[in-house]
Amino acid sequence: MQLLAQIRQRFAPVLKALLTSVESNGTAPSLETLLGMIRPAQNAQFGDYQANFAMPLAKPLGMKPAEIAQQVSATVDLQGLCSEVSVAGPGFINLKLADDFLCQQANRAFGDSTSLPLDQAGLIKVDRLGVSAPNSRENIVVDFSSPNVAKPMHVGHIRSTVIGDSLAKVCRYLGHQVITDNHLGDWGTQFGMIIYGFRNFGNEAAYRAAPVPELSRIYRYVRRLMDCLEKLRDLPKWEQALGTAKERVATCQQELTALEPTSDKAAQKAARKNLADAQLQVSELEELIHKAQQQLRQAAQDESFSRDLVEHAHLHEAVLAETSKLHAGAPENLQLWHEILPHCHDEIDRVYQRLNVEFDHCLGESFYHDRLAPLVALLKRQGLVRESEGAQCVFLDQFDAPMIVQKRDGAFLYATTDLATIQYRVEHWKPNRVLYVVDHRQSEHFDKLFAVAQKMGHEQVQLVHVSFGTVMGNDGKPFKTREGDTVGLEGLIDDAVAKALEVVAKLDEAKDGGPEFTAEQRQAIAETVGVGALKYGDLSQNRTSDYRFDFNQMVALEGNTATYLQYSFARVNGIFSKAETTPEAIRSNQAAIRLTNDAERTLLLALIRFQDALEEVLVDYRPNLLCNYLFELTQEFFRFYNRADCRVVGAEPDVQASRLAMCDLMARTIKTGLALLGIKVVGKM
Ligand code: ARG
Repeated sequence: MQLLAQIRQRFAPVLKALLTSVESNGTAPSLETLLGMIRPAQNAQFGDYQANFAMPLAKPLGMKPAEIAQQVSATVDLQGLCSEVSVAGPGFINLKLADDFLCQQANRAFGDSTSLPLDQAGLIKVDRLGVSAPNSRENIVVDFSSPNVAKPMHVGHIRSTVIGDSLAKVCRYLGHQVITDNHLGDWGTQFGMIIYGFRNFGNEAAYRAAPVPELSRIYRYVRRLMDCLEKLRDLPKWEQALGTAKERVATCQQELTALEPTSDKAAQKAARKNLADAQLQVSELEELIHKAQQQLRQAAQDESFSRDLVEHAHLHEAVLAETSKLHAGAPENLQLWHEILPHCHDEIDRVYQRLNVEFDHCLGESFYHDRLAPLVALLKRQGLVRESEGAQCVFLDQFDAPMIVQKRDGAFLYATTDLATIQYRVEHWKPNRVLYVVDHRQSEHFDKLFAVAQKMGHEQVQLVHVSFGTVMGNDGKPFKTREGDTVGLEGLIDDAVAKALEVVAKLDEAKDGGPEFTAEQRQAIAETVGVGALKYGDLSQNRTSDYRFDFNQMVALEGNTATYLQYSFARVNGIFSKAETTPEAIRSNQAAIRLTNDAERTLLLALIRFQDALEEVLVDYRPNLLCNYLFELTQEFFRFYNRADCRVVGAEPDVQASRLAMCDLMARTIKTGLALLGIKVVGKM
């Protein structure tokens, strides 16, 4: 149920009437702005909702805010919705929902167990809980996860995967037609690396025995060679730069010394700043050189690696050549690519399975290869491309650099594929919106892409870059292993599950009647709790900021964690066992919920805000708002649960039934909310 929208709707005619009276001078805020100023109250003391629109209306209406507030609250029709309307302070309108209305809405949600699918195949189903269909049903494409395959998935892939999955689920739950698409990087330079590496450094037997580890070994080996070759190429340049930087330090030092006897403070300050800048440059270069030398020394100790460095000095060019040959359709490269690709799919599918993430489509970059030349031809026909230094470019007013769609050597680019992808999606799926869940470093790419798409005539589809920040380690730097490698996603899942197992075991051991789970049961619970913790740890962060990865915090039983929410769900199950009844039995008693005290009231108010919370998520594509909602709901639940006057089991029969119904609605809301975040619950913990 849309609660906030209902309240706003009641105020709309009154505000509209007020606005007509000032329309001529055009200084009044819009109706939408005013309605947007009706919000849930920050402090329960002031009621359930609060409206502040009287202040910005004061000037245009030539009245005091308090008078406006009085006038509006006297005329607005809140029949059946609110029991109290009052004006406070300089002109705030405070609203209290009617208890009857609260119960009626809670009973509606409680009685609505129509099941809604969260995936296209209909494998994951949740209760509708009174959530209504959207005013306009849209076709929404969600492009997410989209790793570059042939290299292991790492921590960087988790954000796109879980944020995208959750947004797709929320859109679907709210009634939109959703298509998820994993735009795999399955056609890039990494295949040139693998193809070259396979032929030159591959181990046939190892590949036959276990293809994926061997492919990833080859990838890493070629990557390391390329890194070292790059260092060998750059070191002399850096050393030269260091020499220049040191000279600059000496000059700055002299300048400062010369200025010291004078009284020119400003010049001294400037000279000191110059010196500090120069010294910083020196230390940065020294660090760069030191690291590179260390890496090269290490390489020198490995005899065969050193030999390969010499023998494959032109590795970079060779890799590009193999990639071009693949794109040009050279049979030997294409065959190898076809041979390798299924293994790459197996590799990522294993991770997706563990994370319970599925896609409707996995149309990778290779899928669009044949559409690239026609796309560039179309751009030419549309008069959008211009040749510049041999490359085909689309120039855009808002940007200094153009978008290159074909390089001088004929190669197409990431951007070309993305344009072809938009065309394909528009043609086949007719989306109203496409969400690209991709990290913030690609902002400029998407800004340009969207601008070009618009020029091509795709104005009707709303293209959105849902960007996100970096996952940081405890040191506040991008999360890396101790060796400086990116952190593998599979290992991370294992670690999260191991941490969760500790929590599960501790809870189990502390039980009054002694532990109740077998080792297998504990392991199964830990898998759900661990994966949930990992996902929630990410989803509960503001997506645009970087966040620090912290296992202990993620699986904590107290705080804004999946573990806490899962625990509350299990607690409700415990209450039902204690009451020796089942949710099904309570559900057959349709209008069970009624109010006897304020803790129940606060819980119900939180429960009936579920749809509002979900709609908030879609305003700016922020799953963390759903996390916040679920966390607050759970806190309200425990407040209710721990209150002496809210005893569930053992209360008067109809009060017990009502409270059990509240518990059931709470558990189903948590279960559904978590499912929308891609997280499962456990019956017992
Ligand atoms: N494969 C790309 C990468 O890893 C992300 C692709 C995102 N989606 C898109 N349509 N460009 O950087």
